[in-house]
Amino acid sequence: MAHAELDRLQACLNFALDTLRNEMNNSQLPPLSQQSLVEHPLDDSTKYLPSTGVFEARRLSLACLGELKNLIQSPLDKCMDERFAIYGVACTDTLIKTGIIDYLSDVPNASQGVPAAELASKFELDSKKLVPILRCCAASGWVRETRDSSFALNRCSRTFIEGNAGRRLNFSMPGHMSVIETIPHWVAESDWKLSRSPEQTAFQIAFNTPLLAFSWIVENPDVLVPIADHLQVFGDMSTPSIVADYPWQQLQTPVIVDCGGGQGGLISSILDAHPSFRAIVQDMENVVALTSSIMEERRPRDIESGVLKVEAHDFFQPQPRIGNEYSFILRHIMHDWPDKEATTILGNVARALGPKSKILIIDMVAVPNVDSTATTSVKSLMLDSRAKGPDYRIPSHFGSASRIVSGSSMHMLTMINGCERSLREWEKLVKGCGLRITNVYPLRAHTSIIECALDTRALM
Ligand SMILES: C[S@@+](CC[C@H](N)C(=O)[O-])C[C@H]1O[C@@H](n2cnc3c(N)ncnc32)[C@H](O)[C@@H]1O
Repeated sequence: MAHAELDRLQACLNFALDTLRNEMNNSQLPPLSQQSLVEHPLDDSTKYLPSTGVFEARRLSLACLGELKNLIQSPLDKCMDERFAIYGVACTDTLIKTGIIDYLSDVPNASQGVPAAELASKFELDSKKLVPILRCCAASGWVRETRDSSFALNRCSRTFIEGNAGRRLNFSMPGHMSVIETIPHWVAESDWKLSRSPEQTAFQIAFNTPLLAFSWIVENPDVLVPIADHLQVFGDMSTPSIVADYPWQQLQTPVIVDCGGGQGGLISSILDAHPSFRAIVQDMENVVALTSSIMEERRPRDIESGVLKVEAHDFFQPQPRIGNEYSFILRHIMHDWPDKEATTILGNVARALGPKSKILIIDMVAVPNVDSTATTSVKSLMLDSRAKGPDYRIPSHFGSASRIVSGSSMHMLTMINGCERSLREWEKLVKGCGLRITNVYPLRAHTSIIECALDTRALM
């Protein structure tokens, strides 16, 4: 009997995995291993930029796996899986908070693992609680149970060691779970259920505050530093691809202005790769104080010579850098804001543009979850385009591999009534500011570069 969908996904997965293996060999990457304790280059996208082939084959493999799971898992198991997923977050948080992750990374013979009883006595914890927590982490691939009730770190959990990227990439702040719990009430019953104001979200209800999420964070120094650190890692995940995959040499303006540029990590990487540019990092007053001290330490000569400037600017006010000298970057800014505020921010930059200027919006492009197919990225993997193979199509939103985009959209929605926009939504927003999209550059990351310029056609 033909099992059309199963056969198609199986063929697609085989194709994707074969391609991944070949592309990894071409890039001279070592094999992936869950038994290994050593970080793999592909584990940290802030440091290693995979070839397009590796990136696409990995994404396609994950999309096929997700689609296969959706196809064969029973709805009841899916319910349990989803409801229980939340414990995974609490379990990895527990391993970090107790110090168990750092301890396991330091023990002699780390690959043999440590009995839970020993961990319990070392950290004055209850082993009856620790074993299920560690097993929950093992089920998600975060640790390895080496013998009954003994556990070791694996390659993946190294990201949670102090100082490493996964440890810093921490979406949750104290009370964040209560924001998530509030969503059904906010959306279905609350007085704000039809409000699109950034000050009337699940965040304000759960935190019982009238403050905008950004203002609340700034007023709470305990969360400000971890969140700034989190945003830095989140940004760094796309920086290598932004630097490599955008044709910077074609920019006709000598100065790049990074609006809401945070700690200046992106502009630093662009200047390193393209030293002919000058750059300006703009952010809120209290943020630029930190950015200035970081840049003075890391790039003293650029600051002294004026190649790099750091300045306070509120992007809700008119942009002071006007004309053909300047192009602008807005990375992870627009998704923070609802359409009304996003239009104000983009409009302020648009009004400062000269005919040669560009605005580079760097954000996710959400693909509607309709049943269209992703043939283009699959085609780019078909090295021999004459090869007539099985049907390799998968949904264009990459199935469950799009959960990072849909999850990010939910995060923005609940915190500030923002969202990840589809290309149609980007086009509408950009057009409303007197701009046009001149190109969209897909990145080897979750985001794309939406390049915009003045829509001179509108003036004709
Ligand atoms: C999500 S972070 C992105 C940071 C940086 N663009 C990056 O990609 O790493 C948003 C940034 O917008 C800044 N921001 C928020 N409101 C602002 C405002 N009214 N004017 C200027 N910057 C603002 C925040 O301080 C923060 O640095």
